[in-house]
Amino acid sequence: MSKANDAPWWKSAVIYQVYPRSFADSNGDGVGDIRGISAHLDYLKTLGVDALWISPVFRSPMCDGGYDICDYTDVDPLFGTLDDLDTLIADAHRRDLKVLLDFVPNHTSDQHPWFIESSAGRDSAKRDWYVWRDQPNNWRAAFGGNSAWTWHEGSQQYYLHFFLPQQPDLNWHNPEVVAAMHEVLHFWLKRGVDGFRIDVVHCVGKDPHFNDDPRCLAGEAMVHINDQPHSHEVLRGLRRLVDEYPGERVLIGEVNIRSTRQVAAYYGASDELHMSFNFPPLDAGWDPVVFRLCIREVENELGAMLAWPTWVLSNHDVSRHRSRYGGSLRRAQAAAVLLLSLRGTPFIFQGEELGLEDIELNERNRVDPGGRDGSRSPLPWTEQAPHGWAGAPTWLPFSLHAGPLSVEAQHQQPTSTLALYQRLLSCRRTSKALQLGDWQELPSHPQVLAYRREHEDDERLVCINFSEASQVVSLAEPWTLQVASDGQGEGRPFTGWLAAEQAVILCRRTA
Ligand code: NOJ
Repeated sequence: MSKANDAPWWKSAVIYQVYPRSFADSNGDGVGDIRGISAHLDYLKTLGVDALWISPVFRSPMCDGGYDICDYTDVDPLFGTLDDLDTLIADAHRRDLKVLLDFVPNHTSDQHPWFIESSAGRDSAKRDWYVWRDQPNNWRAAFGGNSAWTWHEGSQQYYLHFFLPQQPDLNWHNPEVVAAMHEVLHFWLKRGVDGFRIDVVHCVGKDPHFNDDPRCLAGEAMVHINDQPHSHEVLRGLRRLVDEYPGERVLIGEVNIRSTRQVAAYYGASDELHMSFNFPPLDAGWDPVVFRLCIREVENELGAMLAWPTWVLSNHDVSRHRSRYGGSLRRAQAAAVLLLSLRGTPFIFQGEELGLEDIELNERNRVDPGGRDGSRSPLPWTEQAPHGWAGAPTWLPFSLHAGPLSVEAQHQQPTSTLALYQRLLSCRRTSKALQLGDWQELPSHPQVLAYRREHEDDERLVCINFSEASQVVSLAEPWTLQVASDGQGEGRPFTGWLAAEQAVILCRRTA
């Protein structure tokens, strides 16, 4: 296990995902922007996170919420300017908050000048920057699972896209592509960003034989199954590049494969990703069996190779965890205790600290081609509508109960979800056991997940009761209840009883 004092910042950090369209709006156009983020850095500081990962803000036709980029080194006017982003980075650093950007290496927009040039003709100098074929194979794209190949009439070939036809895949076998994308990273690293979340990084390597994949016949999209050795070579190149910069810049990969063993390979021999997202908890319902298996698997597979885990319950691509748990705030709060007390770096998706639920939209009001609008609704800052978003109507509606769940309404409410996240983050910040300690499962009732976190002389016990009945936990020694998901009993001796769907962090009782 790493020693606390020489551990890199990202191991003890808690990272907050900002989905910029929905975070905060500074100019009243109904879409969040970079100045909106800057204006709320103190909120994030008070919440107690250490770093922000900002989903893409680059120039884009916005066919896929900005994950279709037509200029990697400029900011889309919807979000502001490059100057705004420079200011945000400086303002965040002044508050000791790190800033991570989203790097999208697998595909560009079809409006990117590289693709426009590539598709101009078969003899274009950039033809080989993308993947062109005379015949398609059976590969399937995300968002509906149609063919991953689109016929280009002008140049009479098919091009590959693992996502929308407006998102052609780059050919990372071409050294010019590698060099151009490395330049993108240098551009941002020199501007001071502290690292990158890398979009579907396991997709960049492609089967050089373009064989049909039987799993596509069964309905799988390539994004969930692609796992080629070449992606590892690409990653080693990216890692060498970021390692040239001081300050432990970090690479966090979105390896959207459900097998932890396969994901573990993307850490390489500490020469690829620093961390990879771990997807099973993002799919999981409120189920102790699923969580227990998933945590054990991470501990076994990643622990064996000293690869540092990550934990995340919600993001912009999936249903919010409160909604996945049947809308129960109590469960969502108990899950927050789990998220912030496991071994590894936790990610908070904006709004989960307020207990937001998904919005429901009818077909006419949907924006996202992948049907993922539910979790992307704007953050309610104030209790009264329009909740701090004065001006044009917001690009998506607010979620249910936006008023009572707003930051303003929960601020200084000791029993609020926001206050719980603050207490959890403060507890984690002052405990090396929670930040960096070992994880050891304790025997417990099947509906209770219990574990010990330990680092030198610091120790915490965590118990999560998944059942609708209270449960007893037998502990040999006396413990103090430090944080409870429902705020009950904090600071008092732990009685041994967990209320229904309650989670607690215990610390050693001081005489
Ligand atoms: C993963 C991103 O999180 C998602 O929003 C996007 O649609 C795909 N990658 C394609 O870039």
